[in-house]
Amino acid sequence: MSPVSLLLLCSLLPCSLCHSQDPFSWLYGRSGQALAALQADRTGGDCPEECDCPPSYPVAMYCDGRGLTSMPSIPERIKYLYLQNNQISAVPDAAMVNASNLVWLMMHHNQIRSDAIGKKAFLKLAKLDRLYLQHNNLTSVPSNLPRSLRDLRLHHNSIDKITAADFEGMDNLTVLYLHDNSISEISSSLKSLGSLTLLDISGNKLKKIPESLPAHLHQLYLESNSIDSVPEGFLGGFSQLQYIRMAHNQLTDKGIPPNTFNVSGLVELDLSFNRLERIPIVSTTLQHLYLQANSIKEFTLGSFCSIVDISNFSRLRTLRLDGNEIGRQDIPSESSQCLRQAFEIDI
Ligand SMILES: *[C@@H]1O[C@H](CO)[C@@H](O)[C@H](O)[C@H]1NC(C)=O
Ligand SMILES: *[C@@H]1O[C@H](CO)[C@@H](O)[C@H](O)[C@H]1NC(C)=O
Ligand SMILES: *[C@@H]1O[C@H](CO)[C@@H](O)[C@H](O)[C@H]1NC(C)=O
Ligand SMILES: *[C@@H]1O[C@H](CO)[C@@H](O)[C@H](O)[C@H]1NC(C)=O
Ligand SMILES: *[C@@H]1O[C@H](CO)[C@@H](O)[C@H](O)[C@H]1NC(C)=O
Repeated sequence: MSPVSLLLLCSLLPCSLCHSQDPFSWLYGRSGQALAALQADRTGGDCPEECDCPPSYPVAMYCDGRGLTSMPSIPERIKYLYLQNNQISAVPDAAMVNASNLVWLMMHHNQIRSDAIGKKAFLKLAKLDRLYLQHNNLTSVPSNLPRSLRDLRLHHNSIDKITAADFEGMDNLTVLYLHDNSISEISSSLKSLGSLTLLDISGNKLKKIPESLPAHLHQLYLESNSIDSVPEGFLGGFSQLQYIRMAHNQLTDKGIPPNTFNVSGLVELDLSFNRLERIPIVSTTLQHLYLQANSIKEFTLGSFCSIVDISNFSRLRTLRLDGNEIGRQDIPSESSQCLRQAFEIDI
């Protein structure tokens, strides 16, 4: 692990978890000696008083967990800025005018409000790679976010819709966390995110699956919404999708067209906590299937294997069927031929 990612990891973890094994623990340790050393070492001049700028790591500035209520001034040289766990509520247009070298901007766990973010606040950050704004008071996606972003985290806010302009031109965006907001509407703006591999929109208010999703997703998380159906040919639009999570929705058998999930390439399918009465047909290549807490009344072996022979058998390893209306006695004896690799069947 590079020092940079180690730093990030630890800045996100409680101090106690990092202290023992981590050579950088002195950076965020706030107790006794560590802090005293930091203060003594603070680089002169441009480091704001309320923050720490370790001389041995001159492109980082640590302002996290200091009760800040407004943005500190940011020296131009800074690439990694830690502002999380404060009570900052506003990001005025001028706050980051000099911060054109920022690569990581960590602003999670503050109280930033959408109406208190300047329209041009993020405009100068042409090199920004990661922006963490989760756990704030946002009601919309901030405007003019840098197109250079690769990792954008907006979860645990109160965003209610995604508009066409929100992510326009973010050709390099790879990870987008939107979970635990109040999103009921997603325009087709996500479609153009050609590099996106992970999209998490769980814990929102979606009534249906957004119409056009990026084609190269590997992971799609839609659990805890109010989705009752899956469009015909839904998975045909993806070339690399491996993980689909749709637990805690209102899916019924009627809402799932036959063969929806019979596509090779899927590794994990989570349809638990829905209203299914039958086991949907899945591909023989699927490895993990979660169907617990539905209303399944029958163990249909044909859902896993249409023909069983030397090469035609299910690669399923995990099968959860507990919390349904069937028991162990409902598993047909021929199942062992088909479910050859299942090491965990919960029923
Ligand atoms: C930006 O830099 C200019 C020129 O050095 C300085 O006058 C100004 O106070 C800086 N603004 C912020 C918000 O740091
Ligand atoms: C942000 O939301 C929290 C929780 O809902 C609330 O207590 C706080 O007052 C809000 N802050 C601002 C600045 O609106
Ligand atoms: C995406 O990344 C490439 C390679 O690092 C870079 O050349 C390009 O400018 C980036 N695109 C955007 C929109 O920032
Ligand atoms: C699933 O798809 C495969 C390949 O297209 C096909 O051969 C198989 O019969 C289908 N399974 C079922 C149960 O329809
Ligand atoms: C399963 O058997 C059918 C018919 O015998 C064959 O066409 C197909 O390729 C086999 N599928 C796999 C995954 O081995």
